[in-house]
Amino acid sequence: MVEIRTEILLGDCKDVLKQIPDNSIDLIFTSPPYADQRKNTYGGITPNEYVDWFLPIAQELLRVLKPTGTFILNIKEKVVEGERSTYVMELILALRKQGWFWTEEFIWHKKNSYPGKWSNRFRDSWERLLQFNKDKKFNMYQDAVKVPIGDWAKGRLKNLSETDKIRDNAKNGSGFGKNISNWVGKETVYPTNVLYFATECQNKNHPAAFPENLPEWFIKLFTKEGDMVLDPFAGSGTTLTVAQRMKRNSIGIEILPEYHEMMLKEIETVKHFLF
Ligand SMILES: C[S@@+](CC[C@H](N)C(=O)[O-])C[C@H]1O[C@@H](n2cnc3c(N)ncnc32)[C@H](O)[C@@H]1O
Repeated sequence: MVEIRTEILLGDCKDVLKQIPDNSIDLIFTSPPYADQRKNTYGGITPNEYVDWFLPIAQELLRVLKPTGTFILNIKEKVVEGERSTYVMELILALRKQGWFWTEEFIWHKKNSYPGKWSNRFRDSWERLLQFNKDKKFNMYQDAVKVPIGDWAKGRLKNLSETDKIRDNAKNGSGFGKNISNWVGKETVYPTNVLYFATECQNKNHPAAFPENLPEWFIKLFTKEGDMVLDPFAGSGTTLTVAQRMKRNSIGIEILPEYHEMMLKEIETVKHFLF
């Protein structure tokens, strides 16, 4: 029998993180308040203050993450006076100076976002998931997120030309080329860094809860059973609920007592799994 622990802590993560030992977390998956959004419920940090507000928290995150671990930051800059804010870009640069490697950027395409038009732009239907690491060598279980190869393969792989059977040099001279015959007989392939998830979330008690399949995808990719996941801006606890279902230990921190209370009610803090 294996015991999976879920810890739900109340307070400002800048302070509460100090209770977590060095190098103890495998994955940090979180969505902090975005600058200037949801002022009336929580957050309300202005774009100008955002980097200074976030850096002391990130310093603690750097300390608690294992060298083999990954930090995924879900964030998106909004439009201020007709222009995109640059605070996310400034944050990336500041985090690099703090010692993080900016390994990758995933795009979450919110595939069910409804149409919209403003005088100078269209509906914003994607968010960033920035991947930071402490070390260039980190744990990644790529086979865990393979996807079905798709219908395109049926026609394309039926009659292969001679160039399809060799590692061809791309015509644009990029140095990238592929041996298309490698895909024959394959049922699954690796995904891209664009993720298509609907915004609908099971948890309607929080204004910014993310859909469960978002943390699930990253938990699969960067952790294995029994690993430790941290969400320092836990909200309604989606990351913790998913981590628990996937047999990962987790810690969530939330500043607002009502959300903390809600998580304590809805999430079991210790769960036993029978194998
Ligand atoms: C975008 S929401 C996270 C929603 C969460 N991903 C979910 O699925 O429910 C951000 C949360 O961070 C909390 N928060 C804001 N500042 C915080 C801080 N300094 N420490 C801990 N939590 C904080 C807010 O109260 C809010 O619930």
